[in-house]
Amino acid sequence: MAIDPSETETVAFTVEDGVAWVKFNRPDKRNSMSPRLNRQMMRVLDDLEFRDDIGVLVLTGEGSAWTAGMDLQEYFRETEAQGLKGTRGAQRESYGWWARLRWFQKPTIAMVNGWCFGGGYGPLFACDLAFAAEEANFGLSEINWGILPGGGAAKVAVELTSFRRAMYHALTGESVDGKTAAEWGLVNEAVPLARLKARVSQVAQILLQKNPVALKATKDAIRRVREMTYDNAQDYLIRAQEAANSYDNEGRKDGIKQFIDDKAYKPGLGAYDRSKSQPTKPAR
Ligand code: ACO
Repeated sequence: MAIDPSETETVAFTVEDGVAWVKFNRPDKRNSMSPRLNRQMMRVLDDLEFRDDIGVLVLTGEGSAWTAGMDLQEYFRETEAQGLKGTRGAQRESYGWWARLRWFQKPTIAMVNGWCFGGGYGPLFACDLAFAAEEANFGLSEINWGILPGGGAAKVAVELTSFRRAMYHALTGESVDGKTAAEWGLVNEAVPLARLKARVSQVAQILLQKNPVALKATKDAIRRVREMTYDNAQDYLIRAQEAANSYDNEGRKDGIKQFIDDKAYKPGLGAYDRSKSQPTKPAR
């Protein structure tokens, strides 16, 4: 069945040099997340995830916003009018694509070009790395309109920044700029908007040089071990590496060979040359 264009146009994407540039595409509504956008984003992630020509996904926004959070009209008011079924359905669609993005097969980068509010903290945390424009604005604005930072936003704040900062941020609803967001740990780095895409492209190119099986194993490991004891983490990591070996047992051997035997590179200073390596099976 054909999908309504008012749904497909909510997300735009291009693929260039191994990078999928995915955009929230409702600039007139400051890229707020409506149920239509949430459904379309899941379709786009589905389409892109296992493509061989994509090694990194960047999530950014068209216009002045990254995303102004949930669409107060279409996500809250209109779905609540349908009762609990409408509310829960809308939650499943948004939380669904954020979870899909958290465990995405390829490394992901949030490129926060502008406003980032409330529900936007879900996809912000879902992305493995985050770079912001210094001019961007981050806020848990929920308190300003009378709710708590739900949909994971409170959890994201305490995961990424300190207790005191998270509490102040959530209770006052004051926003912070990209520079402060970087100081607080909400993003890796802030650069002037004019340089944001160049910086993110540079990071994407670094990731594209790495072994893709190792990238997926690493991103999952960093997320998983947060909640584990030291012993459990050690055990998980042994098993995760052994599972990764079942998809690519040659890469790491080539990595050792190119250093020890060929003296072709130094792992402390950069990645081995995968073009000289056996082709790897795609990891699942
Ligand atoms: N939900 C629905 N519509 C929105 C949202 C949103 N979250 N954000 C912006 N819009 C709409 C506006 O209603 C307006 O629509 P209209 O042109 O039909 O009147 C349009 O987008 C443009 O918005 P402006 O407010 O005119 O844009 P401006 O650039 O001046 O301000 C800002 C941008 C600061 C982001 C402002 O729109 C805003 O405060 N938005 C709400 C942010 C927010 O609190 N989001 C909810 C977080 S809580 C949560 O996600 C659970």
